[in-house]
Amino acid sequence: MTFIPCCFKRQLILTVFIGGLIIEIISDIKKMREWSDNVRLKEQRIGFVPTMGFLHEGHLSLIREAQRYSEKVVLSIFVNPTQFGPSEDFSKYPRNLQRDLEMVEKENVNIVFTPGHEKLYPKGYQTYVQLESLPNHLCGISRPTHFRGVATIVTKLFNIVNPHIAVFGQKDYQQVAVIKQMVEDLNFDIKIIASPTIRESDGLAMSSRNTYLSPEQRLSSTSLYQSLKKTQALIKEGIKDVNTLIDNAKKIILNFSETSIDYIKICDIQTLEDMININQPVLMALAVKVGKTRLIDNMVLYP
Ligand code: PAF
Repeated sequence: MTFIPCCFKRQLILTVFIGGLIIEIISDIKKMREWSDNVRLKEQRIGFVPTMGFLHEGHLSLIREAQRYSEKVVLSIFVNPTQFGPSEDFSKYPRNLQRDLEMVEKENVNIVFTPGHEKLYPKGYQTYVQLESLPNHLCGISRPTHFRGVATIVTKLFNIVNPHIAVFGQKDYQQVAVIKQMVEDLNFDIKIIASPTIRESDGLAMSSRNTYLSPEQRLSSTSLYQSLKKTQALIKEGIKDVNTLIDNAKKIILNFSETSIDYIKICDIQTLEDMININQPVLMALAVKVGKTRLIDNMVLYP
């Protein structure tokens, strides 16, 4: 990869040649808007993939999904501080722009948007987007300010990038639900696409946080997918009682070393309210700590 020799911080648009391909990096909000306005003038559709970087195959699948619906694709990389709680991993969240650019090399991304923290949240910043009900379930219980941070940054990025479609991973089921609701409530003219979870060969859902895991913890992390699969099998065998299913999933997970459970829930696929019995498709969602790393996963289960 060859960087055009210029100072990245002062440059508004940086052109990077990677393996003969050109990727433009925009860090300036005004430039990003101008680029999108120009694309819209040509009546081309803009697909948007917001990320926090440290990309993996799951992110690449979101880019490919965006390309199915749009002529141009913007990928943003911004580790958003407002969605991390005070004792969470904001400062140690993995960051490596060069590695990310190499990952998107073959994906025909048109713009990598890397807005700075001081531009998105300048001194005196005070506006947040808060949903009433969806954030009160699942991850929102142990991460009470998380979805307020997500809804806020996604709103800001939507306003800047002005895409026609935006793609999010189904691994963050609750995030997708929150964003779809927010788009409807705030009248954004953006189609939200949920893309299936991409898994490692042993079933672990891909996540930038998987890099925190030691080899032994990596083995324990397979317990999330195993418990989801086993629950689906038990439902097919006719077990409908949610407590029985959750107890069984707990046993599977706690059988592995260094695991502790934040939550295991079987809930309504729309409202995320707890279910008691399984008579319709339901969402099983779980958050498990393996060592200090908090992992999430989910699956829609069918009776
Ligand atoms: O899913 C993520 O990576 C983040 O929550 C998002 C949507 C990029 C907002 O910071």
